[in-house]
Amino acid sequence: IRVPTVHIEQKKSVPYQMLLLLEQMQRSKRRAVYPQELVSCLTWHNLKLFVQYDAAQLFLSLWNLIKSQITDGQLADRLTTLYTIRVQEYLVCQKCSFETRRDSNMLSLPLPMFNSCSQRLKTLEDTLRCFFQPEQLTDNNMCLCEQCERKTPCLQGMRLTCLPHTLTLHLKRFYYKKSSWTQKISYSLPFPQSLDFNQILTQEQCHPDAKEKADWQYELFGVVAHSGLASFGHYCAYIRSLTEGKWYCFNDSSVCQVLWDDVKCTYGNSHTHWGETAYLLVYMRKNSQ
Ligand SMILES: *[C@@H]1O[C@H](CO)[C@@H](O)[C@H](O)[C@H]1NC(C)=O
Ligand SMILES: [Zn+2]
Repeated sequence: IRVPTVHIEQKKSVPYQMLLLLEQMQRSKRRAVYPQELVSCLTWHNLKLFVQYDAAQLFLSLWNLIKSQITDGQLADRLTTLYTIRVQEYLVCQKCSFETRRDSNMLSLPLPMFNSCSQRLKTLEDTLRCFFQPEQLTDNNMCLCEQCERKTPCLQGMRLTCLPHTLTLHLKRFYYKKSSWTQKISYSLPFPQSLDFNQILTQEQCHPDAKEKADWQYELFGVVAHSGLASFGHYCAYIRSLTEGKWYCFNDSSVCQVLWDDVKCTYGNSHTHWGETAYLLVYMRKNSQ
C-alpha cells in the first residue's frame, strides 16, 4: 500500500490507516490499541460516530472504501479475487424454455432465516440451499420473454459459479416490518466448522469448472456476533488463530481464548431476544495459501 505524501491525504486514506492500525496491533506491548485514527478517517468519508452500524453494512462500506482508495490496480484486483463471490442469475421462460443469464458479483451471501413459505430454516446448510432455490414467477410477477414476445410465467434463480478464498456469509437476522421497529430474529441456527459446498448444493445450483469444484471445502475462521436488540446492542468477534487453531473472543479491549463450545453459544436462542447471535460468518478455503 502506497503511503500518501501529503499529510491530509494520509489522514483520509482508509487503506493506509488500516495498515497503521494492524501494525500497531502487531507491535504494541499494550493489551489493546485504540483505533481513533481509523475512526476519524472514516468520518471523513461520511461514516458517523456513536451510531450502531449494521456489521454487514459497515463491512461493505469499509471494503468499498479500501478498494476504491488502493492506487495499485493489481493489488485492488487481488483484494477483489480474495473476497468476491461470483454467481449467475438466470430467468427461464416456462413456455419456450428460453433462458437469459447475467453474471454478477457479491461480497457476501445474504442468507434467509425463513423459506418462501415462511417456515424456519433449521441449519446454515438449509439457508444456503434455500438461497440457491429458484422461484416461480407467475401472475403479476411474470416476465417479458424475448422469444415469446409477451409476458410468461418463468423460473428465476441464481447459480454459484465461483467461491473466493475468504467467504463471508450474512444471516438476515434483522428485518423491517411495516409500521414497526426493526426486529431481530434470535432463534437458534447452527453452523458447522467445516463446510463442503459440493455436499450442500445440487448440480442445478452451481456451475463451477472442475478445478474450482475440488476446492469447495471451507473452514470457519471468524464469527461476528451481536447481542442486544435490533436498534441497540453490542458486537463481539470470534476468530480462530490460523497458526495454533485456537479460538479467541475479541470484545472491545478484552481478548481472551475461548472454546468452540463458547462460539457455539452464538447459534442463538429463541427464549432470549437479548442473547448473543452470530450475524456474519467468515469461512476460509481449506488447504490453500
Ligand atoms: C463483552 O464484555 C462486556 C463488558 O465487560 C460483557 O458484559 C459481555 O458479556 C462480554 N461479551 C462476551 C460475549 O463475552
Ligand atoms: Zn418464452
